[in-house]
Amino acid sequence: MPKVDIHRVLTRRRFLGGTVAFGTGAFFNMSNLPARTSRRQMFDFTPVRANSFDTITIPSGFKWSVVASWGDPLWSDAAEFDHNTRGNGASQEMSIGDNNDGMALFEIRGHSVLVVNNEYCNNRVIYGNRSTLHPENSDDIRKGIAAHGVSVFEIKRHQDNWAVVKDSFFNRRITAESKMQITGPASGHDLLKTELDPSGKFSLGTFNNCGNGRTPWGTYLACEENFDKYFSTRDKSFRLTAEQIRYGLTAEDAGYGWANKHERFDLAKHPNEANRVGYVVEIDPGSPFSVPKKRTAMGRFKHENCEITICKNGQVAAYMGDDQRGEFLYKFISKNKFSENGNNTDLLEYGDLYAAVFDSTGRGNWVNLLDSGMSRPQTLVNSRIAATRVGATTMDRPEWVSANPFSTEVYCCLTNNSVRGTSPSQPLNAANPRVSNHYGQIIRWKPDNNDHGSNNFEWDHFLLAGNPALHDTEYAGTNNINTANMFNSPDGLSFDSLGNLWIQTDGNYSNEGPFKGMGNNQMLMADTITGKIKRFLVGPRECEVTGITWSADRSTMFVGIQHPGEKNPLLCGFPGGKGTVPRSSIVAISRDDGGAMG
Ligand code: FEO
Ligand code: CA
Ligand code: CA
Ligand code: CA
Repeated sequence: MPKVDIHRVLTRRRFLGGTVAFGTGAFFNMSNLPARTSRRQMFDFTPVRANSFDTITIPSGFKWSVVASWGDPLWSDAAEFDHNTRGNGASQEMSIGDNNDGMALFEIRGHSVLVVNNEYCNNRVIYGNRSTLHPENSDDIRKGIAAHGVSVFEIKRHQDNWAVVKDSFFNRRITAESKMQITGPASGHDLLKTELDPSGKFSLGTFNNCGNGRTPWGTYLACEENFDKYFSTRDKSFRLTAEQIRYGLTAEDAGYGWANKHERFDLAKHPNEANRVGYVVEIDPGSPFSVPKKRTAMGRFKHENCEITICKNGQVAAYMGDDQRGEFLYKFISKNKFSENGNNTDLLEYGDLYAAVFDSTGRGNWVNLLDSGMSRPQTLVNSRIAATRVGATTMDRPEWVSANPFSTEVYCCLTNNSVRGTSPSQPLNAANPRVSNHYGQIIRWKPDNNDHGSNNFEWDHFLLAGNPALHDTEYAGTNNINTANMFNSPDGLSFDSLGNLWIQTDGNYSNEGPFKGMGNNQMLMADTITGKIKRFLVGPRECEVTGITWSADRSTMFVGIQHPGEKNPLLCGFPGGKGTVPRSSIVAISRDDGGAMG
């Protein structure tokens, strides 16, 4: 195993994070912000302590309320959530899906429209009425299929609280059965053709939508992550191909049972079906009847989120992580250019896809996947294989990417990697420098010439997470980590319009062993100029904190609480309280003084 000089990694001169000048790549509407909160004022709160409570904890001077939860109906003729049955197929198709993840709020013709990914199902909770805690009949599977996908719904503020507007024109459920259009260079390719769709241009459903993106032209990007979990086969003679193995597909059912209801999820019978998922899906929240578009040009992998920026020449640069141990960071550059008042509808349809190489001196570059020698459609459907061939750097599970709106620099959470330095295919490297990395790190890069279109960049670590109460080695973390702000497994990441960086965690919440003192999953705020980090929120038990967006006037921040009580649903009851079914929820957070939340 090559050794990495950890001291050098930790002390290497850092490039300055964020100069306060309006840089490229930002497209916040700055005109209607409440004037009362500056970046520094927003950072001026008393941090909350780590805890293991079954509720949300935020600093004094702020308040929170629940906006919507899994199972809340979007139409008035749908049943309210039933804590005994936990809904059925029909009610779930008309209600908010499970496990809310990435989200974005859009202002459309005077309406606030929230678009939220419903990543996966918490079987112990949604099938908590079944003795096996699994789907037991065809309608249970229908319910699971409908609990996935994307929920689109209007919300409205009533005094201090936000609530769903039932029956709004904008309300929509996109599920794992909705019609999708497959666009871009791989559309119609043999690899995407199936018995149901010999054209290779239309598929059914989007699922395991993890993080998200939003475009300056007003669309939403839902990113398909762990799609492998939904395919299986009972055919004993079935053998996986190298490509299927690389994407984690297996013959065994992971607990959803979808292949029992819909033959297209049977890997032996319809092997190409799995090639039709693993993409970025573009959705127009203003047109409830539009068909979502799978963007093959942006590659097929376990997409985390998609951070859109604009290059100096107007081309779109999209940064994307592939969240699996030892996978890569990608950048898409559109063929065509963004134009302020032009038609940008299909900018994500064509372009080039690159993977990142991080060298040991703090420099890095983007390598075009076409350099692999594979055909363009092949590089898009089997992007992981192309990226390995071009020598991309194996990473510690790239999660969300976020670009600083005030400076041309980009941050990415590398959540953890239990096999770093022990798996022969994942030796230590400067960007991923710790053996059995169970705390994670945030890496950042600054493109040359302050241009997201540049092929070269400078990089460093914004932080290495760790536990300074237990370690005085590299596992203590960088010096901006201390016993008051420590956490593990950074995942969600987003700059606000003031330039503060919000970090959300999806880690070990045992509060024991290496994680002692860290409590439940949480959300922190970082000042990327000073490097300081403060804990802003602690989530309820067994949840992950993921997804963040703001109201148009910035006075409300919306945060996602995913899978509270995922392991012990009987011991957790967020948000209804003890004895109720724990439900993934979106909460609204605001300041007592009504000022901007970022
Ligand atoms: Fe769905 Fe990588 O988190
Ligand atoms: Ca995530
Ligand atoms: Ca994660
Ligand atoms: Ca999750």
